[in-house]
Amino acid sequence: MENFTFWNPTKLIFGKGELEQLKTEVPLYGKKVLLVYGGGSIKRSGLYENVISILSEIGAEVFELPGVEPNPRITTARKGVDICKQEGIDFLLAIGGGSVIDCTKLIAAGAKYEGDAWDLVVKKAFAKDALPFGTVLTLAATGSEMNSGSVITNWETNEKYGWGSPVTYPKFSILDPVNTFSVPRNQTVYGMVDMMTHVLEHYFHLEENTDFQDRMCESLLITVMETAPQLLSDLESYQHRATILYCGTMALNGILNMGYRGDWATHNLEHAVSAVYDIPHGGGLAILFPHWMQHNLAVKPERFKQLAVRVFGVNDNGRSAEEVGLEGIQKLREFWNSIEAPSRLADYDIDDSKLDLMADRAMENGEFGNFKKLNRDDVLAIYRASL
Ligand code: NZQ
Ligand code: ZN
Repeated sequence: MENFTFWNPTKLIFGKGELEQLKTEVPLYGKKVLLVYGGGSIKRSGLYENVISILSEIGAEVFELPGVEPNPRITTARKGVDICKQEGIDFLLAIGGGSVIDCTKLIAAGAKYEGDAWDLVVKKAFAKDALPFGTVLTLAATGSEMNSGSVITNWETNEKYGWGSPVTYPKFSILDPVNTFSVPRNQTVYGMVDMMTHVLEHYFHLEENTDFQDRMCESLLITVMETAPQLLSDLESYQHRATILYCGTMALNGILNMGYRGDWATHNLEHAVSAVYDIPHGGGLAILFPHWMQHNLAVKPERFKQLAVRVFGVNDNGRSAEEVGLEGIQKLREFWNSIEAPSRLADYDIDDSKLDLMADRAMENGEFGNFKKLNRDDVLAIYRASL
């Protein structure tokens, strides 16, 4: 285990009816509130009206930035920064999924930065300050509600990058499973794939003595796999929505990965694909991750074997670690197939015509991945295998 410091300042507020806590949380940060939301799901579900009524009850002056896209764009974040600067906004409230929250993080930091917010995304500048913000999460997936990361797309240049800073943790996040009842089946699946992949990205590391961390990761994976079919047969089950919502937050809030660094190459590979084709993040991961695994099985087969035996129940009697590990990879693919996640780039009509552009984007900062450094040949091999 490596040395580590764990610090996560986000107040997590979980459960039915907890939206009411906006009444005590928001006034701590000021009067002028910018609501940031997406393409309309919160209006259809009635959540928007509930939030507005609470904000008017506490006398907040409300400004709005609607229309944040899935895979949020720098152009939208810039609009938000302008509103904050012109109106002297005190506090931002993100209501939505990872895209809305990520966009809000950039607006919050951009409002305290003199240059163009894109500088923060491409790390030309580091965010030293940000407006305070909170979130009301509506989709279990990214973990953005309890971490400092944000992923932003520049559609004009086909770039999509992650960035973050200690100043971009939400002050609080309200997670009411009821607010996720309306998430459609496909987004529910993408979200579950995303949180599983966060755990798998943690899991493939080269550190020794991580027995407890391994068991926590395995337990989260097993819980999602046991819950997924039950949730998909009853999308309005409070019990199953709650389990998945909690899993999504725990998968990427720093609790599982103390004392070691995970791999994260597949996230980089996926961001490069969605920068060029604008596909859903979880869908891209479902396609790419098993191919990343197969490509790197030989790096440390024992690690793949442990996953296969403990999470997928593969029998290892008299078999090599490679054989057992490979069966584990097949079982993961079978599970994702069983919940109808995509399995080929062709599922999104992606052919080999832009492989070079995707590889250029993935290689923007040179070789990447902590379990195994991927070079351009590795990247192209994984993309080709995924076609
Ligand atoms: O825009 P609206 O109308 O709200 O609809 C959204 C959107 O179309 C819809 N949706 C959300 N909540 C809903 C709902 N529909 C009905 N009922 C609800 N309750 O779902 C669609 C997708 O939303 P989005 O926010 O894009 O999904 P997700 O949470 O998966 O976020 C994906 C983005 O997060 C980034 C991804 O790269 C992608 O850009 N990530 C951010 C991370 C982070 N900050 O830590 C880590 C992740 O690995 C990921 O890279
Ligand atoms: Zn992800």
